[in-house]
Amino acid sequence: MTREARILGIESSCDETAAAVVVNGQQILSSVVSSQIDIHRKYGGVVPELASREHLRQIVPVVREAMEQAGLRFEELDAIGVTQGPGLVGSLLVGITYGKTLANALGKPLVAVNHLEGHIHAAFLEAFQGGETPKLPAVCLIVSGGHTVLYEVKTTGGGVGEAFAYRKLGQTRDDAAGEAYDKVAKLLGLGYPGGPILDRLASAAGNVAAPVKFGPTKTRGNALDFSFSGLKTAVLYHLREHPEYNEEIRKRQGLLEEGHRKFEELLPMCGPQTLGLVREFQNAVVRDLVERTMMAAEECGVETVLVSGGVAANSQLRRVFAERASEAGLKVFFPSRALSTDNAAMIAAAAYEKFAHGMFADVGLNAKASLPLG
Ligand code: KG4
Ligand code: ZN
Repeated sequence: MTREARILGIESSCDETAAAVVVNGQQILSSVVSSQIDIHRKYGGVVPELASREHLRQIVPVVREAMEQAGLRFEELDAIGVTQGPGLVGSLLVGITYGKTLANALGKPLVAVNHLEGHIHAAFLEAFQGGETPKLPAVCLIVSGGHTVLYEVKTTGGGVGEAFAYRKLGQTRDDAAGEAYDKVAKLLGLGYPGGPILDRLASAAGNVAAPVKFGPTKTRGNALDFSFSGLKTAVLYHLREHPEYNEEIRKRQGLLEEGHRKFEELLPMCGPQTLGLVREFQNAVVRDLVERTMMAAEECGVETVLVSGGVAANSQLRRVFAERASEAGLKVFFPSRALSTDNAAMIAAAAYEKFAHGMFADVGLNAKASLPLG
């Protein structure tokens, strides 16, 4: 490809309405994300009907802002990339309908992107910002509120610039890791989403005594599959057996109801036992994610590990991966926190690969709630 390709990416698969303009899958001109967290928070999770309605409200202003920040007119775009799935059908349809209409009106190609492929490209995109190119093949862990899955990522021709090929190595059999964070935070009266607050409380725990220890999770069959529901249930049983947690939990729930959900406000309401429990929970999640990913890297004989998705923002996960990878002589790439959670820059970057290979969608493009990858 000789000329620069400017692609508008659109993402609306869950509770973030996002638009971004990326040049040649590498240079981010703009990335706008409108989060619906405040709307879903009081329900403790994403409510699909509310999500679609909010996407409808946000899509036009979010795309407009992305174009303004990029300093481009619609006519100057080369293609529109849109998330086709997996995700919530009603939410996906908003982005797809908008993308199809825009591409049609402009006479530009439309590219359908798998959301998971977007997360994989987020790690590449970040590396490119720092002038690095991850070496392929690689193992990629996508770990978010909706997904926990391991892929082997290759290029069909062996070099960057070739089409990408994905092979699924393992996935969660029940809850996603982010879902476990959200559920445990709810049990502890720590609000939604749970990941960021539990991450900070675990760091604040220092070396307080552990009130309980969680062993490694065993999965029968594929050793690269994950399982987090047992850990969540173990936390639930531990809380049930120890009523001394209850008073604190009630107090924190009261604070949340009054709108006090900041780390600084919740930390003084967490005793050493709670902090120890949070630290042990996080240790167990991080250990499991890192062990299985390192095992996959060894089995596939790769030199590169990519970690992406909302939970990739976790400070302990980043630290432990960096340590383990350096011991094993591997290179590990994480997106920045902003590119780890759902965004449209990763969709535009993934769309570039398909655009460059002439893989276009037509007006019949439809949302696929469980669109597979690999
Ligand atoms: O990728 P994402 O924005 O949306 C999904 O596709 O799910 O991920 C959101 C998930 C939530 O479950 C949230 O609790 C988790 O990522 N998360 C974290 C952290 N920041 C967000 N989990 C652990 N530690 C964090 N720092
Ligand atoms: Zn996602």
